[in-house]
This record gives sequence, structure tokens and C-alpha cells, in this order.
Amino acid sequence: MTATLLDGKQIAEQIRSELTGEVAAFVDRCGIRPTLAAILVGDFAASEVYVRNKERACQRAGLDSRVHRLGSQTREEELLQLIEQLNQNPAVHGILVQLPLPGHIREARVLDAIDPRKDVDAFHPENVGLIAQGRPRYLPCTPHGISQLLARTGIKTRGKHAVIVGRSDIVGKPMALMLMNRDSTVGADGANATVTVCHTQTADLPAVTRSADLLIAAIGRPKFITADMVKPGAVVVDVGINRTESGLVGDVDFEAVKSIAGFLTPVPGGVGPLTVAMLLVNTLEAARRQAGRTD
Ligand code: GUN
Repeated sequence: MTATLLDGKQIAEQIRSELTGEVAAFVDRCGIRPTLAAILVGDFAASEVYVRNKERACQRAGLDSRVHRLGSQTREEELLQLIEQLNQNPAVHGILVQLPLPGHIREARVLDAIDPRKDVDAFHPENVGLIAQGRPRYLPCTPHGISQLLARTGIKTRGKHAVIVGRSDIVGKPMALMLMNRDSTVGADGANATVTVCHTQTADLPAVTRSADLLIAAIGRPKFITADMVKPGAVVVDVGINRTESGLVGDVDFEAVKSIAGFLTPVPGGVGPLTVAMLLVNTLEAARRQAGRTD
């Protein structure tokens, strides 16, 4: 058996094309152009690429984007001041601080400072709490993209055993909450899973992952998920983007798992493009909410 590839690039294109129309209609109706402010601190090469991709995607969809580039020596207080200015600026609807931050800046302090109504990453504790309670304001872009990818491919999660490898605040934890909730933005069939979250301390990890109908790998270790860890026919979603000497590699051993899984996302061209598309969706949603429009 060879897995059907889940083409994230194509689905992201579809979402972006729908969104471009919605943005144009919103601008016509309200005279407001949804605007994202992205903050990049320091000189992480990968972050620079991500922020540039996000900026370009905004422009293509008709959103405004402003990138604030700060040096690696920037003090935490300076960053907090910039966030406060953006919080107060009515022309800015979404604020994103690209992670990771340099070591001397406390990430929690910075994320807590973003106005939760402008927090298009959904990293603020208020937004995380709302997700946990099953009444999300925004969804974090990567898990949001994964739920779109599954729903638009016709893959239901209701009643399935979803195993998530990785407990990060950006992917693992929110994905677990979303999958275990009673409902989702793609309907009840895209929620209601039985969820197991695995991490570095999990005993007999392969036995757990082999019981997964849906396996989501978000650990940041190249080719960590091997063929013996996958149930035949399982849906395997690879969130990893690892830069190695042989190029970009996911968290899944693609060549080996391809002959076991039923569905598999490639790297690149799987989850990555969806993350960017969902940031645009969240930014339009933020502008709608701030304009008091839900139409
Ligand atoms: N770094 C890695 N992924 C993300 C993300 O989704 N948002 C932000 N702000 N930083 C990241």
C-alpha cells in the first residue's frame, strides 16, 4: 500500500483564494483594510524566511502587513513598548511576535502583553483558555491549518484515536484541545477524537503511536517517526521542518512511512503552507471583530 499524499500546498491555495474574495468584500463594505503587524527580534535565519513568507502572503490576499525588525540586543522593555503602541493603534488588527525570541527576553511576558483581541497566533492565555473551554476566539495557525487539511480531504476525527507526539504550546497542546472538544470550526466530525499526547518521557512510545488512527508528529526531530511506529492505514500528519545537511526534513521518515500509512503529509508542501494561510484567515477575523462586524 502507498499512502495518499495530503497536498497542503493545494489546499492552502484554495483557502487563500477564498480569503482574497472575502477580504475584498470586507474592504468594500467597511472601508477597512485588515492589517497585520509582525515583530521579528534578532537574526534567526529561519524566522526571517517565515516572516517574509507571511508578509508576501498578506500582500497577495489584499491584507496590509507591517514588519517591525528589532536587533538581537533589543531590551524586553523596548519590545513591550512597541507591543503597547500596536495594541493602541486602531489601524492594526493582528499582532504577531515571531518565535523564538532571543534568550534574554521572557517569552511569556511578551505574549501576555499582546491585546488578546489582536492575538492572531492565539498564544495569549485568555485565548488558550477559550480554546480549552471549547469557545475559541482564534485558533493557533498550525493546528487550525491541520484541521482544515483533514476536513477538506474528507477525513473525520470523531471517535478516532488521535496521538500527538510533542507537547508544545504552539502545536501539540492546542491541537489536543481542539481534537478533544465537542465541536470545531469545521464541525463536530473534525473534533470528538480520543486524544493521547506523547512526549520525551512517554514509556514505550512506539506502542502508543501504533494505536493511532491519526498520528500528528510535532517534535522537531528529523525522521523520528519510523515505519514500525505507524498503524497500517493511519493518517499521518508531519508538522516538522528540520533543516539538515540533506535539506528540509520532517519529523516522519517519509520514504519508510509512505508504504504503511493511508494518508501522509509531505515536507515541504504539507502543513507549512496551511500555517501561513490560517494566519491570513485569523487576521481577517480580527479585523471583523474589531469593526464589530461578523457578516
Ligand atoms: N514560530 C514557529 N511557529 C510559529 C508560529 O506559528 N507563530 C509565531 N509567532 N512564531 C512561530
